[in-house]
Amino acid sequence: MSKTYCTAPFVHMNIANDGNVTPCCTSTRSFGNSKRQSLSDIWSGDQMEQFREEILGGKQVEGCEICYQLEDSGADSFRLRWNRSFILKYIQDPKLRSDTPLCIHVHFSNICNLKCRMCWHGSSSSWFNDAKKLNLTVSDKALITSDGAQRMVDQLDPFIDKAVEFYFAGGEPLMMHQHYELLQRLIDRGRTDAIIGYNSNMTLLHLKDWDVIELWKQFKSVNVAISIDEVDERTPYLREGSDFETIRNNAMRIKREAPNVYIRVSPTITLLNIFNITNLLKRIVSEGICRYEDITLNIVQEPKYYNIRLLPLAHKKEIDRRVAAFIKAENLPALMIKWLKDVTSYMNAEDWSHRLGEFYEFNQKIDSIRSESFVDVFSNESYMLELFELASQQSEAVT
Ligand SMILES: C[S@@+](CC[C@H](N)C(=O)[O-])C[C@H]1O[C@@H](n2cnc3c(N)ncnc32)[C@H](O)[C@@H]1O
Ligand code: SF4
Repeated sequence: MSKTYCTAPFVHMNIANDGNVTPCCTSTRSFGNSKRQSLSDIWSGDQMEQFREEILGGKQVEGCEICYQLEDSGADSFRLRWNRSFILKYIQDPKLRSDTPLCIHVHFSNICNLKCRMCWHGSSSSWFNDAKKLNLTVSDKALITSDGAQRMVDQLDPFIDKAVEFYFAGGEPLMMHQHYELLQRLIDRGRTDAIIGYNSNMTLLHLKDWDVIELWKQFKSVNVAISIDEVDERTPYLREGSDFETIRNNAMRIKREAPNVYIRVSPTITLLNIFNITNLLKRIVSEGICRYEDITLNIVQEPKYYNIRLLPLAHKKEIDRRVAAFIKAENLPALMIKWLKDVTSYMNAEDWSHRLGEFYEFNQKIDSIRSESFVDVFSNESYMLELFELASQQSEAVT
């Protein structure tokens, strides 16, 4: 197998909030849209077949740059994870596509109750009004949906019998009625053996009459990755509309009532939380939300103004120091150490500190729209205050 081979297009389909079908959630290649074509036609259609051929050609393919960049910096990539998860486990011949996708990632819409700083209107309906003020909307309506003339739940129906896994993100999947309808359909069709996966902000567990825990109890295997990026009063600054207490209480309710649900935590790493990363990890574990083994770190690459590569050298050194001290002091599993090393090696791979002014300008605009203050939120973190000062000077020098 070549060094660039990826199994995703042979086993998997990703349906974005707007109905765009891509090989995975990080690739920019598109094979069609669920609003205009059936998912079955897209799966066996020319565009997806051509992409598979390109992959088998053994060279890097257009649209998958994020994976190649992550690998170049020594970090793990989605491509590597796809290959580890599927080859030989569910398919014997990596060159042949399955009849219907085995793993389906579906983003029914961008409906979301939060407007996290590093997120955007395309993934969150709540971002719409702020995005309008910033000229960053991606449609003229807050809600973007993948439902077309044929409802997405019906489009997915032909895949139900063979699918190994359904994964839901968004938007916030636990706010999406289509997601509850699909779970009910899987239950009615006796497919409670299908693996159900999520990324969720974990701020709610109900929609209308549905209680997601009651549905989850009926499945053999449910994996929930909870997004937690900060603790206590910094939480709503990064993930506006959420609070740490609610997330923790909801996670605890799942643990009590649905032991078949496997909880992971997936912090999204930006310039706003990298300084507190070790405290964040400690709190997640000490609150009993999950173990170190069950934490995965998600590095923000775009938008660039929140990318950790923007940090000046002295700040990066301090982060390296904090991470090294944490690794030395805690009895961490090898996987957690690897995640931390991946993050620091990604951070140190390139120096983008000349772009710090961009961070300042964007963050100030958001602060002003939301009547929030970076300096107040990070008043007890001298490195963050110094960073703010440097970024502000750089922005002034440019303007
Ligand atoms: C878009 S959200 C959708 C699911 C759910 N609303 C949540 O927050 O978990 C999926 C994941 O992407 C992360 N995310 C948000 N903005 C990102 C960005 N710019 N780059 C990388 N990941 C991002 C979120 O923190 C979350 O863990
Ligand atoms: S909760 Fe998820 S989808 Fe909603 S704004 Fe935050 S990261 Fe984006």
